[in-house]
Amino acid sequence: MALSTQPYKGARDFYPEDKRIQKYMFGVLRSAVEKYGYEEYDAPILESLDLYLAKTGEEIVNEQTYAFEDRGGRKVAIRPEMTPTVSRMVAAKRQELAYPLRWYSIPNLWRYERPQRGRLREHWQLNVDIFGLAGVEAEHEVISVVDGILQAFHAKRSMYTIKLNSRKFTDYILREYIGFDEVQAYSVAKLIDRMHKMDRADFIVQLDALCTPSQREQGAVEQLQDVLQAQRFTALPAAVQQHPSLAQIRFLIELLEESGIDNVVFDATLMRGFDYYTDVVFEVFDNHPDNNRSLFGGGRYDGLVGLFGVEPVPTVGFGMGDVTLQNFLEIHELLPKLHPETHIYVVPVGDVFKQLQKPLAELRASGLNVALDTTGRKIGAQIQTAEKKGIHYVMVIGEQEIADGRYNLKNLQTGVEEKHGLSRIVTIATDYRHVDETEDEDI
Ligand code: HAM
Repeated sequence: MALSTQPYKGARDFYPEDKRIQKYMFGVLRSAVEKYGYEEYDAPILESLDLYLAKTGEEIVNEQTYAFEDRGGRKVAIRPEMTPTVSRMVAAKRQELAYPLRWYSIPNLWRYERPQRGRLREHWQLNVDIFGLAGVEAEHEVISVVDGILQAFHAKRSMYTIKLNSRKFTDYILREYIGFDEVQAYSVAKLIDRMHKMDRADFIVQLDALCTPSQREQGAVEQLQDVLQAQRFTALPAAVQQHPSLAQIRFLIELLEESGIDNVVFDATLMRGFDYYTDVVFEVFDNHPDNNRSLFGGGRYDGLVGLFGVEPVPTVGFGMGDVTLQNFLEIHELLPKLHPETHIYVVPVGDVFKQLQKPLAELRASGLNVALDTTGRKIGAQIQTAEKKGIHYVMVIGEQEIADGRYNLKNLQTGVEEKHGLSRIVTIATDYRHVDETEDEDI
């Protein structure tokens, strides 16, 4: 039987046209986060499995992590997320680093998921984290970066909603207001995390099953629903409105509004899957009806660095996946037309390989990317190759052109053919790139 040409389930091959999209997206991401002073870091894809056992969350570790024993008997995992890794890196140099740290990375991550729209087994995830700030200015900055990224892709704020909640508020509601014990509170939080994927009746049945008879009698199910359904702070039960964590969320929303970010809402149902979050959590949702899913997720996690036996470092950050981002850009028609990296395709006529090298070197030295066809096929076939690759210009070069120092430059998009010296050719091909780049700016 012939070998399969398919990539591993839930993972993607990146053919040049796919890679071009990824390069474009990563380029915009890098410049958007660097604008806020973030520096790029990286780390190995393999980590000790222990790193995830501590705090990542049961579902990810038990069901989604690719884990195995290496040849030396060590239990290792392919990273399912970057947060434990970056916390390990900060802990390793806890005393030497200059805080606050503004760090970012775009690692590929592996999770054993059921592949579906927006969810794959391998994805790339922009991670942006700020280490060393305990105040709400850190949340304000990180959420501003989220917004800055989407603005850099020319998204309008009506296209996405930033949802905020607080782990402290959730803990207070589940433990003190309703009175669940620790184990119940954990299970209820996981249930709330899944509630938007199930129908209401099902949610109530499962919630009811987690309550003790006396909690049921005291109306725990109804009380919790009243909190979860509140769309505004004022719609929350009066008894919970004064909790300090809510004042902080309110203040953060005000700060963001002051910065022009007016698409931020409080959502008591926002849980986030990871156990390490300690305070504010947030997610960004695509408002498009056909792609109503989370694009970014993050929050404050003040305890992770301290797990490595060093003094804790207050931290806020988020992760944003490439799959969901690309879906967002496609559905809102925000992806520009991307061109191949090659500017000019050179089609030689006759035995000119040797003489061609000088003008080719000159074009390349002037900043152009130039590919030479050496197949010896008919001119038409070579030009067709350039067309199929989407290359903008073709130069057909024979002995005469080399002797005159004047070359035919054909624009394959318009069909226009002109004869010029090399320096003029450089200007034309470079100008075309510039015009095109500024056109992209207007999207
Ligand atoms: P997360 O919510 O698991 O958070 O992932 C963040 C984002 O990564 C999601 O909103 C989604 O865009 C993308 N993502 C996650 N899993 C997949 C998947 N299987 N396929 C495609 N895209 C996916 C974290 O991972 C946290 N460690 C983020 C963080 C950084 N928190 C603080 N700092």
